[in-house]
Amino acid sequence: MRTKIFPKIDGILHGGDYNPEQWLDRPDILKEDIRLMKKAGINCVTLGVFAWSSYERREDEFDFSWLKTVMDDLYANGIYTILATPSGSKPAWLDKKYPDAIRVDENGIKAHHGMRENHCMSSADFERRVRFVDRKLAENFSDHPGLLMWHISNEFTGYCYCDNCKREFRQYLEKRFDNDIEKLNRAWWTTFWSHTYNSFDEVEPPFLNGERSILGQNLEWRRFTTHNVCRLMKTEIDTLREVRADIPVTTNFMMMFEDYDYRVLAKELDFISWDSYPFLHNDYESLEDTLLDNAFFHVMCAGMIKDRPFMLMESAPGLVNWSPYNKYKRPGIHALMSFQALSCGSDTVQYFQIRKGRGCSEQYHGAVIDHLGTDDTRIFKEVESLGEQLLKVKEIQGSIRRSEVALIYDWDVRWAVKDCWALSNETKNYDRTIMDAWKELEKMGIDPDIISSDDDFSDYKMIIAPMLYLLHDGIGEKIGKYVEDGGCFAVTYFTGCVDKDTLCYLGGFPGQGLSDIFGVICEETDTLYPKDSNEIIFSEDGRKATVKDYQELLRVKDAKVIATYEQDYLKDKAAVTVKEYGKGKAYYIGCRLMKKDMGVLLADLLGSAGIAQRPVPEGVEYHVRYSDGKKFEFYLNTNETPVTTENVRGRELLSDKDIDGSITLEKYAVAVVAVDT
Ligand code: GLA
Ligand code: ZN
Repeated sequence: MRTKIFPKIDGILHGGDYNPEQWLDRPDILKEDIRLMKKAGINCVTLGVFAWSSYERREDEFDFSWLKTVMDDLYANGIYTILATPSGSKPAWLDKKYPDAIRVDENGIKAHHGMRENHCMSSADFERRVRFVDRKLAENFSDHPGLLMWHISNEFTGYCYCDNCKREFRQYLEKRFDNDIEKLNRAWWTTFWSHTYNSFDEVEPPFLNGERSILGQNLEWRRFTTHNVCRLMKTEIDTLREVRADIPVTTNFMMMFEDYDYRVLAKELDFISWDSYPFLHNDYESLEDTLLDNAFFHVMCAGMIKDRPFMLMESAPGLVNWSPYNKYKRPGIHALMSFQALSCGSDTVQYFQIRKGRGCSEQYHGAVIDHLGTDDTRIFKEVESLGEQLLKVKEIQGSIRRSEVALIYDWDVRWAVKDCWALSNETKNYDRTIMDAWKELEKMGIDPDIISSDDDFSDYKMIIAPMLYLLHDGIGEKIGKYVEDGGCFAVTYFTGCVDKDTLCYLGGFPGQGLSDIFGVICEETDTLYPKDSNEIIFSEDGRKATVKDYQELLRVKDAKVIATYEQDYLKDKAAVTVKEYGKGKAYYIGCRLMKKDMGVLLADLLGSAGIAQRPVPEGVEYHVRYSDGKKFEFYLNTNETPVTTENVRGRELLSDKDIDGSITLEKYAVAVVAVDT
């Protein structure tokens, strides 16, 4: 069960993006950097992100000497390298000579040279140059003893609407619809508004001033772009592997990023990595809430390759410089957040950036080494102290998460809910709905996985799928089997309305046979105005809960009603139902409840599924990692005051003390308790 993702490293990887190419005329600084990194307990850097013009200054003129020298020096000092391919930013010579590499936006306007992550994913010239430079990199560095892994490009993002992409889209559709345009017409309901196509050549990407009314087409464009980005990423991976096949690869994801289905990209990667930049200490939510949102994405990344730790690839030492308000992390938060990553299954704590540059748009972005250049800044000292703490928790390396509970969160559903002309665009909030449900469970000390509807359900006693609006093929049957075999499955309003092409199911929502499994049919999904509300009452204990935003009129077939509406035209009608189906239970929650009320309902459901909560004090985040014969319990105090958690037993690794009963955590403090299992 223990998977060391970096066998060369004993413990946690600690480091970050480092750009020595910006300092080649300052050997004194490069030397000092190594001293400072060692002092801060840094054992790894990411080199080469956006470094293309530093080693291919002109087409075909390669000079990797600086990179080799830097990698050698780092390695000689015990610092390993994650080496990036440079495709995230094109040199000026490339755009000038190969203008096809430049992206066209959704208005059909071609960009100018500049910025980054702005290449056309279908440009043959770009792909050829990327393959060429990647191959050179691989030939020069694959056998370097300091090389840990490849980092493909950087934070893939965006769409391209150029003619080449249009052509690729059409070819993709031909394949997807078996070369049969009538299949496409049927799947996309194109007789609507006279939008019937006669050939694939007539189909365009969804330009902003073009075709956006065919929802199946919009969705397929998202899938196509995911496919195209993934294809290009795969050519990079293949190029590197042609030289040497055993070096792992990753690419860095972004929090709640919507453009591409990360789960498709994940299939090509050895490890998941992501860049975490929450807006800390803001004036609209508690620190606990900000951090729990961040944890949500950690856990989602952990779930994309379940049997392996993931990597925190970037985080900000101190502050970022691109958020609405660039506030510094308050003392102690750096360690708290780094341990949060570890607690959710990361084996790394990495930063952007090791040293602040002097110029351009990231000159004020936080770094381990400030312009001041010394080792006594607050930020440096916090990084250094974290470096020491990481040594104390070495044994968590390779352990992984597991949970009896999962939430379903699908990209296709995100896209389809956003795009459908229904509900209210102000309050649909698919992401927020899933995250809020997840957070309520976290506050009960349940640490649910976040999975896709295509994932294996068999590990879980209970699965919650809020707003599962779009159903992939076979999902109805899969849910049925899961419940029949004893699982507890809960869905909400706006479930099972459309198929994978966004065509509505006939004969009652939820479709694909789910209305039989849940024993209800949804006849109306009513959207409330923000100041509207309703109430529901639970028959068992007379408890009431507040409804916001959405409420459904349900036809109860053979489910048991557990709560009814109190007001409005739905008064006394079913709001929440359960049906015993096979050995399990299928819950239908026909309305959106206020967060806390949803939490209470979920607690009931957990109870009925026999899942024990792990009570922790308010503001304490709790996660567990498992390895052979051991588990590691993490307690993170997000409060500004000390708190005491009861029922803690085991060896606390940071203090190296046995705990037998309770543990008190100071403001922002962390405990990592190893327990024999
Ligand atoms: C992203 C990028 C980095 C850097 C940071 C700044 O995560 O990957 O190159 O721009 O943002 O926060
Ligand atoms: Zn393009």
